[in-house]
Amino acid sequence: MTLRIRPETVGDQQAIRIVHEQAFDTPNEAHLVDLLRKAGKATVSLVAVQNESIVGHILFSPVTIENSSPNLVALGLAPLAVLPEFQNSGIGSKLVREGLKICISNGWDIVVVLGHPTYYPRFGFSKASNYKLTNEYGVDDPFMALEMTERALSRVSGLVKYASEFGVVGT
Ligand SMILES: CC(C)(COP(=O)(O)OP(=O)(O)OC[C@H]1O[C@@H](n2cnc3c(N)ncnc32)[C@H](O)[C@@H]1OP(=O)(O)O)[C@@H](O)C(=O)NCCC(=O)NCCS
Repeated sequence: MTLRIRPETVGDQQAIRIVHEQAFDTPNEAHLVDLLRKAGKATVSLVAVQNESIVGHILFSPVTIENSSPNLVALGLAPLAVLPEFQNSGIGSKLVREGLKICISNGWDIVVVLGHPTYYPRFGFSKASNYKLTNEYGVDDPFMALEMTERALSRVSGLVKYASEFGVVGT
């Protein structure tokens, strides 16, 4: 029953789609993943594999920040999902932690997430409005940020925009 986290590879698409369709109420997130992948914006895409089956998936795609230093680069974490029967056994946490490690290794400065305000702080995320960051969805507590490089969050402010594909599927 060992769990393995590995990058998405060719042939994983259908299993990833099923994870999102089952975890969320609508197929929007599954569709979003397909659109981002097709657009070359699936910057970090990891799957959780148990007994040779894909049971979880996490994606990070580029975001832009209104006021930002020229070389600063940021990603949005979305979507994250674990098959319902495998939830609450640490798989989501492993996907987030492994994903963040890769973001750091690959030189990304900031990761933002719009998600459950009780879930993401355990990975170091805190309210993005504390750093004068705003979002397009009119939410406060659920929009969170984490710096990967020192003082990155002190060098940004203003509106954070997700990839245009997020607008297409309406998530
Ligand atoms: C949210 C999700 C990815 C977490 O993955 P997971 O493998 O179940 O989570 P873990 O086992 O790593 O962590 C369990 C913790 O997450 C919390 N959690 C799970 N779902 C949650 C939710 N919807 N809101 C808030 N906290 C949640 C549990 O209460 C538990 O908290 P505890 O450690 O304080 O007891 C998974 O439950 C899921 O796919 N949910 C449906 C899709 C979704 O909502 N995705 C996230 C969008 S932001």
